[in-house]
Amino acid sequence: MNILILGGGGREHSLAWAVLQNPKCDRLIVAPGNAGIAAIAECASLDIMDPGAVVTFAEEEAIDFVIIGPEAPLAAGVADRLREAGVLTFGPLKAAAQLEASKSFTKEICDAANAPTAAYGHFTDAKAAREYVTTQGAPIVVKADGLAAGKGVIIAETVEQAHAAIDDMFGGAFGNAGAEVVIEEFMTGEEASLFVLCDGQNILPIGSAQDHKRVGEGDTGPNTGGMGAYSPAPVLTPEIEALTMDRIVRPTMDEMTKRGMPFQGVLYVGLMIENGQPRLVEYNVRFGDPEAQVLMMRLGAQAMDLMHAAAEGRLDRAQVNWADDHALCVVMAADGYPGDYTKGSVIGGLDKCPADSFNMVFHAGTTAKNGQITASGGRVLNVTARGATLREAADRAYRMVDSIDWPQGFCRRDIGWRAL
Ligand code: AMP
Ligand code: GLY
Repeated sequence: MNILILGGGGREHSLAWAVLQNPKCDRLIVAPGNAGIAAIAECASLDIMDPGAVVTFAEEEAIDFVIIGPEAPLAAGVADRLREAGVLTFGPLKAAAQLEASKSFTKEICDAANAPTAAYGHFTDAKAAREYVTTQGAPIVVKADGLAAGKGVIIAETVEQAHAAIDDMFGGAFGNAGAEVVIEEFMTGEEASLFVLCDGQNILPIGSAQDHKRVGEGDTGPNTGGMGAYSPAPVLTPEIEALTMDRIVRPTMDEMTKRGMPFQGVLYVGLMIENGQPRLVEYNVRFGDPEAQVLMMRLGAQAMDLMHAAAEGRLDRAQVNWADDHALCVVMAADGYPGDYTKGSVIGGLDKCPADSFNMVFHAGTTAKNGQITASGGRVLNVTARGATLREAADRAYRMVDSIDWPQGFCRRDIGWRAL
Protein backbone atom coordinates (compact mmCIF):
# COMPACT_ATOMS: atom_id res chain seq x y z
CA MET A 1 0.00 0.00 0.00
CA ASN A 2 0.98 3.62 -0.54
CA ILE A 3 0.46 5.39 2.76
CA LEU A 4 0.29 9.10 3.59
CA ILE A 5 0.64 10.36 7.17
CA LEU A 6 -0.38 13.95 7.87
CA GLY A 7 1.60 15.83 10.52
CA GLY A 8 5.16 16.64 11.43
CA GLY A 9 5.79 16.02 15.12
CA GLY A 10 7.08 13.25 17.34
CA ARG A 11 3.68 11.55 17.19
CA GLU A 12 3.90 11.32 13.41
CA HIS A 13 7.54 10.16 13.55
CA SER A 14 6.48 7.27 15.79
CA LEU A 15 3.48 6.46 13.55
CA ALA A 16 5.80 6.45 10.51
CA TRP A 17 8.30 4.24 12.35
CA ALA A 18 5.58 1.68 13.18
CA VAL A 19 3.98 1.75 9.72
CA LEU A 20 7.35 1.20 8.00
CA GLN A 21 7.84 -2.04 9.94
CA ASN A 22 4.71 -3.49 8.37
CA PRO A 23 5.29 -5.40 5.12
CA LYS A 24 1.96 -4.05 3.80
CA CYS A 25 3.59 -0.64 3.45
CA ASP A 26 5.18 -0.26 0.01
CA ARG A 27 5.68 3.48 0.07
CA LEU A 28 5.31 6.04 2.87
CA ILE A 29 5.00 9.80 2.51
CA VAL A 30 4.70 12.11 5.53
CA ALA A 31 3.49 15.68 5.10
CA PRO A 32 5.07 17.92 6.18
CA GLY A 33 7.30 15.64 8.29
CA ASN A 34 10.51 16.82 9.97
CA ALA A 35 14.23 16.10 9.90
CA GLY A 36 13.89 12.83 11.83
CA ILE A 37 11.04 11.59 9.65
CA ALA A 38 13.00 12.52 6.51
CA ALA A 39 15.65 10.00 7.57
CA ILE A 40 13.15 7.10 7.31
CA ALA A 41 10.44 8.24 4.84
CA GLU A 42 9.67 10.66 2.02
CA CYS A 43 8.49 14.05 3.23
CA ALA A 44 6.25 16.34 1.19
CA SER A 45 5.42 19.98 1.75
CA LEU A 46 1.67 20.12 1.66
CA ASP A 47 -0.85 22.39 3.40
CA ILE A 48 -2.52 19.73 5.55
CA MET A 49 -5.20 22.22 6.63
CA ASP A 50 -6.43 22.50 3.05
CA PRO A 51 -8.78 19.55 2.36
CA GLY A 52 -8.76 20.10 -1.40
CA ALA A 53 -4.95 20.16 -1.56
CA VAL A 54 -4.73 16.95 0.48
CA VAL A 55 -7.22 15.15 -1.80
CA THR A 56 -5.36 16.28 -4.94
CA PHE A 57 -2.04 15.15 -3.48
CA ALA A 58 -3.46 11.75 -2.45
CA GLU A 59 -4.86 11.21 -5.94
CA GLU A 60 -1.66 12.28 -7.71
CA GLU A 61 0.48 9.99 -5.57
CA ALA A 62 -1.96 7.05 -5.78
CA ILE A 63 -2.29 6.92 -1.99
CA ASP A 64 -4.25 3.91 -0.67
CA PHE A 65 -4.47 4.91 2.98
CA VAL A 66 -4.19 8.22 4.84
CA ILE A 67 -3.46 8.46 8.58
CA ILE A 68 -4.26 11.87 10.06
CA GLY A 69 -2.07 12.69 13.08
CA PRO A 70 -3.16 16.07 14.55
CA GLU A 71 -6.61 17.37 15.49
CA ALA A 72 -6.59 20.58 13.42
CA PRO A 73 -6.98 18.92 9.98
CA LEU A 74 -9.67 16.64 11.43
CA ALA A 75 -11.61 19.66 12.73
CA ALA A 76 -11.11 21.29 9.30
CA GLY A 77 -12.86 18.39 7.55
CA VAL A 78 -9.86 16.80 5.83
CA ALA A 79 -11.12 13.26 6.56
CA ASP A 80 -14.55 14.17 5.13
CA ARG A 81 -13.09 15.25 1.80
CA LEU A 82 -10.72 12.29 1.56
CA ARG A 83 -13.53 9.78 2.16
CA GLU A 84 -15.80 11.59 -0.30
CA ALA A 85 -13.02 11.14 -2.85
CA GLY A 86 -12.87 7.43 -2.02
CA VAL A 87 -9.54 7.52 -0.18
CA LEU A 88 -9.40 5.17 2.81
CA THR A 89 -8.69 7.36 5.85
CA PHE A 90 -7.92 6.84 9.53
CA GLY A 91 -9.45 9.69 11.52
CA PRO A 92 -12.95 10.98 12.28
CA LEU A 93 -15.16 13.18 10.14
CA LYS A 94 -15.49 16.84 11.12
CA ALA A 95 -18.80 16.26 12.93
CA ALA A 96 -17.32 13.50 15.11
CA ALA A 97 -14.14 15.52 15.70
CA GLN A 98 -16.31 17.87 17.79
CA LEU A 99 -15.54 15.49 20.66
CA GLU A 100 -12.25 17.39 20.83
CA ALA A 101 -13.06 20.62 19.01
CA SER A 102 -15.96 21.59 21.32
CA LYS A 103 -15.92 21.00 25.06
CA SER A 104 -19.62 21.86 25.42
CA PHE A 105 -20.47 19.33 22.70
CA THR A 106 -18.62 16.63 24.66
CA LYS A 107 -20.34 17.57 27.91
CA GLU A 108 -23.73 17.38 26.21
CA ILE A 109 -22.89 13.96 24.76
CA CYS A 110 -21.79 12.77 28.22
CA ASP A 111 -25.09 13.99 29.67
CA ALA A 112 -27.05 12.12 27.02
CA ALA A 113 -24.90 9.00 27.44
CA ASN A 114 -24.96 9.23 31.23
CA ALA A 115 -21.15 9.01 31.25
CA PRO A 116 -19.48 10.10 34.52
CA THR A 117 -17.67 13.44 34.19
CA ALA A 118 -17.35 16.74 36.10
CA ALA A 119 -20.51 18.78 36.74
CA TYR A 120 -20.51 21.85 34.48
CA GLY A 121 -22.14 24.97 33.11
CA HIS A 122 -21.95 26.22 29.51
CA PHE A 123 -21.93 29.98 28.88
CA THR A 124 -22.01 32.43 26.01
CA ASP A 125 -21.66 35.57 28.12
CA ALA A 126 -19.37 36.66 30.93
CA LYS A 127 -22.08 37.82 33.36
CA ALA A 128 -23.81 34.44 33.64
CA ALA A 129 -20.46 32.65 33.81
CA ARG A 130 -19.25 34.88 36.64
CA GLU A 131 -22.47 34.33 38.58
CA TYR A 132 -22.14 30.57 38.20
CA VAL A 133 -18.61 30.71 39.65
CA THR A 134 -19.79 32.88 42.54
CA THR A 135 -22.44 30.31 43.48
CA GLN A 136 -20.17 27.26 42.95
CA GLY A 137 -17.06 28.62 44.69
CA ALA A 138 -13.43 27.59 44.08
CA PRO A 139 -11.36 25.66 43.12
CA ILE A 140 -13.10 25.52 39.76
CA VAL A 141 -12.01 24.93 36.15
CA VAL A 142 -12.63 27.47 33.37
CA LYS A 143 -12.30 26.19 29.79
CA ALA A 144 -12.44 27.85 26.39
CA ASP A 145 -14.93 25.79 24.38
CA GLY A 146 -12.89 25.44 21.19
CA LEU A 147 -9.41 24.25 20.18
CA ALA A 148 -6.77 26.33 21.97
CA ALA A 149 -3.63 24.20 21.49
CA GLY A 150 -3.89 22.86 25.04
CA LYS A 151 -3.82 26.37 26.56
CA GLY A 152 -7.53 27.00 27.03
CA VAL A 153 -7.92 25.38 30.46
CA ILE A 154 -7.51 27.45 33.62
CA ILE A 155 -7.60 25.73 37.01
CA ALA A 156 -8.71 28.60 39.25
CA GLU A 157 -7.81 28.35 42.95
CA THR A 158 -10.01 31.31 43.85
CA VAL A 159 -13.26 32.86 42.64
CA GLU A 160 -11.28 35.98 41.65
CA GLN A 161 -8.93 33.93 39.42
CA ALA A 162 -11.92 32.26 37.81
CA HIS A 163 -13.58 35.63 37.16
CA ALA A 164 -10.34 36.90 35.59
CA ALA A 165 -10.13 33.81 33.36
CA ILE A 166 -13.73 34.32 32.26
CA ASP A 167 -13.04 37.96 31.41
CA ASP A 168 -9.90 36.96 29.46
CA MET A 169 -11.75 34.33 27.46
CA PHE A 170 -14.72 36.50 26.58
CA GLY A 171 -12.24 39.32 25.96
CA GLY A 172 -10.74 37.30 23.13
CA ALA A 173 -7.55 35.92 24.73
CA PHE A 174 -8.16 32.62 22.94
CA GLY A 175 -9.77 34.07 19.82
CA ASN A 176 -12.85 32.27 18.62
CA ALA A 177 -12.11 29.26 20.84
CA GLY A 178 -13.13 31.39 23.85
CA ALA A 179 -16.38 32.75 22.43
CA GLU A 180 -18.10 30.09 24.54
CA VAL A 181 -16.91 28.92 27.93
CA VAL A 182 -17.42 25.72 29.91
CA ILE A 183 -17.00 25.86 33.67
CA GLU A 184 -16.39 22.60 35.48
CA GLU A 185 -16.25 21.16 38.94
CA PHE A 186 -12.60 20.59 39.94
CA MET A 187 -11.98 16.85 40.08
CA THR A 188 -9.33 15.24 42.25
CA GLY A 189 -7.61 11.90 41.72
CA GLU A 190 -4.95 10.48 39.42
CA GLU A 191 -5.00 11.17 35.68
CA ALA A 192 -4.37 8.59 33.00
CA SER A 193 -5.44 8.08 29.43
CA LEU A 194 -6.86 5.13 27.56
CA PHE A 195 -6.58 4.82 23.77
CA VAL A 196 -9.48 3.16 22.00
CA LEU A 197 -9.76 2.41 18.30
CA CYS A 198 -13.26 2.84 16.89
CA ASP A 199 -14.62 1.91 13.45
CA GLY A 200 -18.04 3.50 13.81
CA GLN A 201 -19.43 0.37 15.41
CA ASN A 202 -16.77 -1.69 17.17
CA ILE A 203 -14.35 -0.47 19.82
CA LEU A 204 -10.96 -1.88 20.75
CA PRO A 205 -8.73 -0.56 23.55
CA ILE A 206 -5.08 -0.51 22.47
CA GLY A 207 -3.27 0.68 25.57
CA SER A 208 -3.00 3.18 28.36
CA ALA A 209 -0.50 5.91 29.19
CA GLN A 210 0.26 8.68 31.62
CA ASP A 211 1.95 11.89 30.65
CA HIS A 212 3.65 14.69 32.57
CA LYS A 213 2.12 18.03 31.72
CA ARG A 214 4.14 20.30 34.01
CA VAL A 215 7.53 21.53 32.88
CA GLY A 216 9.33 20.97 36.21
CA GLU A 217 10.39 17.90 38.16
CA GLY A 218 7.89 16.68 40.76
CA ASP A 219 5.11 18.02 38.49
CA THR A 220 5.77 21.69 39.22
CA GLY A 221 5.81 24.85 37.09
CA PRO A 222 3.72 25.82 34.09
CA ASN A 223 1.76 23.42 31.89
CA THR A 224 3.23 22.16 28.63
CA GLY A 225 2.12 19.97 25.75
CA GLY A 226 3.70 17.07 27.70
CA MET A 227 7.26 16.51 28.99
CA GLY A 228 7.19 12.72 28.88
CA ALA A 229 4.95 9.67 29.01
CA TYR A 230 4.92 6.01 29.83
CA SER A 231 2.75 3.03 29.02
CA PRO A 232 1.00 1.14 30.50
CA ALA A 233 -0.43 3.34 33.27
CA PRO A 234 -0.56 1.19 36.44
CA VAL A 235 -3.56 3.14 37.78
CA LEU A 236 -5.58 1.99 34.76
CA THR A 237 -6.12 -1.54 36.04
CA PRO A 238 -8.15 -4.07 34.01
CA GLU A 239 -11.13 -3.30 36.29
CA ILE A 240 -10.89 0.47 35.69
CA GLU A 241 -10.43 -0.13 31.96
CA ALA A 242 -13.58 -2.28 31.89
CA LEU A 243 -15.54 0.39 33.80
CA THR A 244 -14.25 3.04 31.38
CA MET A 245 -15.28 1.03 28.34
CA ASP A 246 -18.73 0.15 29.75
CA ARG A 247 -19.71 3.47 31.32
CA ILE A 248 -17.89 6.04 29.21
CA VAL A 249 -16.62 4.88 25.81
CA ARG A 250 -19.40 2.50 24.70
CA PRO A 251 -22.26 4.88 25.66
CA THR A 252 -20.44 7.81 23.99
CA MET A 253 -19.92 5.90 20.77
CA ASP A 254 -23.55 4.74 20.76
CA GLU A 255 -24.73 8.31 21.29
CA MET A 256 -22.53 9.54 18.42
CA THR A 257 -23.94 6.88 16.12
CA LYS A 258 -27.48 7.74 17.20
CA ARG A 259 -26.81 11.36 16.19
CA GLY A 260 -25.63 10.30 12.75
CA MET A 261 -21.95 10.99 13.41
CA PRO A 262 -20.32 7.62 14.05
CA PHE A 263 -16.74 7.96 15.27
CA GLN A 264 -13.94 6.31 13.33
CA GLY A 265 -10.32 6.69 14.37
CA VAL A 266 -8.62 6.71 17.74
CA LEU A 267 -10.35 8.11 20.79
CA TYR A 268 -8.01 9.52 23.44
CA VAL A 269 -9.94 9.06 26.68
CA GLY A 270 -8.51 11.39 29.34
CA LEU A 271 -9.59 10.13 32.77
CA MET A 272 -9.50 11.17 36.42
CA ILE A 273 -9.47 8.11 38.66
CA GLU A 274 -10.40 8.23 42.32
CA ASN A 275 -11.60 5.50 44.69
CA GLY A 276 -11.67 2.97 41.89
CA GLN A 277 -13.99 5.11 39.74
CA PRO A 278 -13.01 6.67 36.40
CA ARG A 279 -14.49 10.00 35.30
CA LEU A 280 -13.95 11.64 31.93
CA VAL A 281 -11.74 14.74 31.85
CA GLU A 282 -11.62 15.12 28.08
CA TYR A 283 -11.72 13.36 24.77
CA ASN A 284 -9.22 13.93 22.00
CA VAL A 285 -9.88 12.53 18.55
CA ARG A 286 -6.28 11.54 17.78
CA PHE A 287 -3.28 9.92 19.41
CA GLY A 288 -1.63 11.90 22.20
CA ASP A 289 1.78 13.45 21.77
CA PRO A 290 3.98 12.04 23.41
CA GLU A 291 1.58 9.19 24.31
CA ALA A 292 1.65 7.88 20.71
CA GLN A 293 5.41 7.47 20.97
CA VAL A 294 5.15 4.99 23.86
CA LEU A 295 2.17 3.18 22.33
CA MET A 296 3.88 2.79 18.95
CA MET A 297 7.03 1.52 20.65
CA ARG A 298 4.94 -1.21 22.28
CA LEU A 299 2.67 -2.05 19.34
CA GLY A 300 5.23 -1.91 16.51
CA ALA A 301 4.09 -3.10 13.08
CA GLN A 302 0.65 -4.26 14.26
CA ALA A 303 -0.33 -0.60 14.86
CA MET A 304 -0.69 -0.25 11.10
CA ASP A 305 -2.94 -3.33 10.82
CA LEU A 306 -5.09 -2.03 13.67
CA MET A 307 -5.50 1.44 12.14
CA HIS A 308 -6.26 -0.16 8.79
CA ALA A 309 -8.90 -2.41 10.39
CA ALA A 310 -10.48 0.65 12.08
CA ALA A 311 -10.65 2.53 8.78
CA GLU A 312 -12.21 -0.47 7.00
CA GLY A 313 -14.75 -1.23 9.76
CA ARG A 314 -13.28 -4.61 10.69
CA LEU A 315 -12.31 -4.06 14.30
CA ASP A 316 -14.61 -6.88 15.42
CA ARG A 317 -12.09 -9.27 13.86
CA ALA A 318 -8.96 -7.41 15.02
CA GLN A 319 -6.97 -8.12 18.13
CA VAL A 320 -3.98 -6.67 19.92
CA ASN A 321 -1.09 -9.00 20.64
CA TRP A 322 0.41 -7.72 23.83
CA ALA A 323 3.93 -8.25 24.99
CA ASP A 324 4.21 -7.82 28.73
CA ASP A 325 6.39 -4.75 28.31
CA HIS A 326 6.72 -1.08 29.21
CA ALA A 327 7.72 2.00 27.26
CA LEU A 328 8.81 5.43 28.41
CA CYS A 329 9.43 8.67 26.55
CA VAL A 330 11.51 11.62 27.75
CA VAL A 331 10.82 14.90 25.96
CA MET A 332 13.83 17.13 25.36
CA ALA A 333 12.78 20.76 24.96
CA ALA A 334 14.56 23.98 24.04
CA ASP A 335 15.63 26.20 26.98
CA GLY A 336 12.82 28.60 27.81
CA TYR A 337 9.97 26.29 26.78
CA PRO A 338 6.98 26.57 27.40
CA GLY A 339 7.74 30.32 27.30
CA ASP A 340 9.88 31.96 24.61
CA TYR A 341 12.60 29.60 23.49
CA THR A 342 15.59 29.82 21.20
CA LYS A 343 15.56 28.23 17.75
CA GLY A 344 18.37 27.02 15.55
CA SER A 345 20.74 25.47 18.12
CA VAL A 346 22.70 22.44 16.85
CA ILE A 347 22.00 18.99 18.33
CA GLY A 348 24.92 16.56 18.41
CA GLY A 349 25.33 12.95 19.48
CA LEU A 350 22.20 11.62 17.80
CA ASP A 351 24.34 9.21 15.77
CA LYS A 352 25.46 7.61 19.05
CA CYS A 353 21.88 6.66 19.98
CA PRO A 354 20.71 3.18 19.03
CA ALA A 355 17.71 2.95 16.68
CA ASP A 356 15.98 -0.41 17.06
CA SER A 357 12.80 -1.92 18.48
CA PHE A 358 13.88 -1.00 22.04
CA ASN A 359 15.37 2.46 21.52
CA MET A 360 14.29 5.34 19.30
CA VAL A 361 14.82 9.06 19.32
CA PHE A 362 11.71 10.44 17.67
CA HIS A 363 12.00 13.98 16.36
CA ALA A 364 9.34 16.52 17.30
CA GLY A 365 10.73 19.89 16.24
CA THR A 366 13.92 19.54 14.22
CA THR A 367 15.25 20.83 10.91
CA ALA A 368 18.24 19.57 8.92
CA LYS A 369 20.62 22.41 8.02
CA ASN A 370 24.00 22.03 6.31
CA GLY A 371 24.20 18.39 7.32
CA GLN A 372 23.36 19.14 10.96
CA ILE A 373 20.19 18.64 12.98
CA THR A 374 18.95 21.87 14.55
CA ALA A 375 16.16 22.61 17.01
CA SER A 376 13.16 24.33 15.42
CA GLY A 377 10.42 23.87 17.99
CA GLY A 378 9.73 24.04 21.73
CA ARG A 379 9.51 20.30 22.23
CA VAL A 380 12.34 18.98 20.07
CA LEU A 381 13.20 15.32 20.73
CA ASN A 382 11.21 12.40 22.15
CA VAL A 383 13.71 9.93 23.54
CA THR A 384 11.76 6.67 23.76
CA ALA A 385 12.65 3.19 24.99
CA ARG A 386 11.00 -0.12 25.77
CA GLY A 387 11.87 -2.74 28.38
CA ALA A 388 10.62 -5.71 30.36
CA THR A 389 10.07 -3.30 33.27
CA LEU A 390 9.42 0.42 33.43
CA ARG A 391 12.78 0.83 35.20
CA GLU A 392 14.57 -0.85 32.31
CA ALA A 393 12.75 1.38 29.79
CA ALA A 394 13.64 4.48 31.83
CA ASP A 395 17.30 3.50 32.12
CA ARG A 396 17.53 2.96 28.37
CA ALA A 397 15.84 6.28 27.62
CA TYR A 398 18.04 8.29 29.99
CA ARG A 399 21.16 6.55 28.63
CA MET A 400 20.25 7.99 25.22
CA VAL A 401 19.46 11.40 26.74
CA ASP A 402 22.95 11.42 28.28
CA SER A 403 24.63 10.74 24.98
CA ILE A 404 22.84 13.61 23.24
CA ASP A 405 24.97 16.74 23.08
CA TRP A 406 22.61 19.68 23.16
CA PRO A 407 23.57 22.38 25.70
CA GLN A 408 20.55 24.55 24.75
CA GLY A 409 18.07 21.80 25.59
CA PHE A 410 16.67 20.34 28.81
CA CYS A 411 14.47 17.51 30.04
CA ARG A 412 12.84 16.29 33.23
CA ARG A 413 14.89 13.58 34.96
CA ASP A 414 11.89 12.08 36.77
CA ILE A 415 9.62 10.81 33.99
CA GLY A 416 7.64 7.85 35.28
CA TRP A 417 8.15 8.73 38.96
CA ARG A 418 4.61 7.85 39.99
CA ALA A 419 4.97 4.34 38.64
CA LEU A 420 8.64 3.86 39.57
P1 AMP B 1 -8.22 19.36 29.05
O1 AMP B 1 -7.65 20.16 27.92
O2 AMP B 1 -9.69 19.44 29.18
O3 AMP B 1 -7.70 17.97 29.07
O4 AMP B 1 -7.56 19.93 30.38
C1 AMP B 1 -6.15 19.96 30.53
C2 AMP B 1 -5.79 19.49 31.92
O5 AMP B 1 -6.46 20.28 32.91
C3 AMP B 1 -6.21 18.07 32.23
O6 AMP B 1 -5.30 17.12 31.76
C4 AMP B 1 -6.31 18.10 33.73
O7 AMP B 1 -5.02 17.98 34.31
C5 AMP B 1 -6.83 19.47 34.00
N1 AMP B 1 -8.29 19.46 34.13
C6 AMP B 1 -9.19 19.66 33.15
N2 AMP B 1 -10.43 19.59 33.61
C7 AMP B 1 -10.35 19.33 34.93
C8 AMP B 1 -11.31 19.15 35.97
N3 AMP B 1 -12.62 19.26 35.76
N4 AMP B 1 -10.84 18.89 37.21
C9 AMP B 1 -9.52 18.82 37.46
N5 AMP B 1 -8.57 18.99 36.53
C10 AMP B 1 -8.97 19.25 35.27
N1 GLY C 1 -0.12 14.86 25.60
C1 GLY C 1 -1.41 15.42 25.58
C2 GLY C 1 -2.07 15.48 24.27
O1 GLY C 1 -1.58 14.99 23.27
O2 GLY C 1 -3.15 16.05 24.20
